[in-house]
Amino acid sequence: MKIAILPGDGIGTEIVAEAVKVLKVLDLPFEMETAPVGGAAYEAAGHPLPDSTLALAKAADAVLFGAVGDWKYDTLERRLRPEQAILGLRKELGLFANFRPAICYPELTHASSLKPELVAGLDILIIRELTGDIYFGQPRGRRTAVDGHFPGSEEAFDTMRYSRPEIERIAHVAFQAARKRNRKVTSVDKANVLETFQFWKDVVTEVHAQYPDVELEHMYVDNAAMQLVKAPKKFDVVVTGNMFGDILSDEAAMLTGSIGMLPSASLNAANQGLYEPSHGSAPDIAGKGIANPLATILSAAMMLKFSLNQPEAAARIEAAVQSVLSQGLRTADIYSEGTRKVSTREMGDAVVAALTGAT
Ligand code: NAI
Ligand code: MG
Repeated sequence: MKIAILPGDGIGTEIVAEAVKVLKVLDLPFEMETAPVGGAAYEAAGHPLPDSTLALAKAADAVLFGAVGDWKYDTLERRLRPEQAILGLRKELGLFANFRPAICYPELTHASSLKPELVAGLDILIIRELTGDIYFGQPRGRRTAVDGHFPGSEEAFDTMRYSRPEIERIAHVAFQAARKRNRKVTSVDKANVLETFQFWKDVVTEVHAQYPDVELEHMYVDNAAMQLVKAPKKFDVVVTGNMFGDILSDEAAMLTGSIGMLPSASLNAANQGLYEPSHGSAPDIAGKGIANPLATILSAAMMLKFSLNQPEAAARIEAAVQSVLSQGLRTADIYSEGTRKVSTREMGDAVVAALTGAT
């Protein structure tokens, strides 16, 4: 089992170190190799995604990714910015399905921005399509308007596009994921206004015919945004396009207490995947040793489950995370009175101790 370890920038290096520590005590035959990515790679090799890093990622069964970016790179031309590394990896590895589970641990119910009773026991899965939509649709650009409300004025435009195969494959992913959960999929669209999403709705409905055991519900994105804060537990699997998924997954993240708790997986057709916390490089707290490593540790658990066929090891990590929370250990982002504040490293050590029974 080959794992490419790409820590990146800022807290990326701190949190990935803890996840690697956790993977090492599992005593499984992993081959882990580390390579620079993002700003770190730009400094070392003049490019955020050097060929050697990309080659390592492609040859691996899975990639464990920290985070990239720092304000100091904001003035670089776009192709050299750290964030291009993650876009490049998604494209080169064909990662089209982004899984973001939003789980509210019982100990963190009060850290949520919603009332505890709305999030107690929350366990939903947002699946975001990653390759299509208005993010990549051509044509795009700037021009002088020839029609519209202000002909002759400067305008910018993007194109929202989805092809049938793109929708079909993400729909299959969603229905199959639902089969392993509570057999309910909510497909989020804007079919009332956008042709792209009427097509989305039609194709998802067609694919659903192959999954009669899974319930399918369609919801407009504006209503979905509302329902997520009104009654989030009514969802099980939510599947949606690239842009709606970007927004709704961040909204769902907030229900759970801290972005430092949220793992993610991005998969391709061969179940090869890139696993990373949902957050960024957090330059505001980088180097202080206070970042929450649990999102990254839980991402490593997703990696074991989805790409490395080690569901038992994944479950052990998840139980260890649950255990350290039950013990009252908290990094600063999830700290509350009556719990014990720990550093990034102490949190990683506690997970290792829970795994090895050395508590
Ligand atoms: P961010 O997620 O890095 O930070 C947002 C806030 O959450 C900050 O206050 C930060 O301290 C806090 N935070 C994030 N992760 C945490 C953790 N594990 N423990 C405790 N607190 C945590 O987002 P921001 O500030 O918008 O972006 C910072 C940089 O990260 C930018 O350069 C951005 O482009 C990049 N970024 C990279 C991503 C990636 O590598 N996939 C994703 C999102 C942002
Ligand atoms: Mg986002």
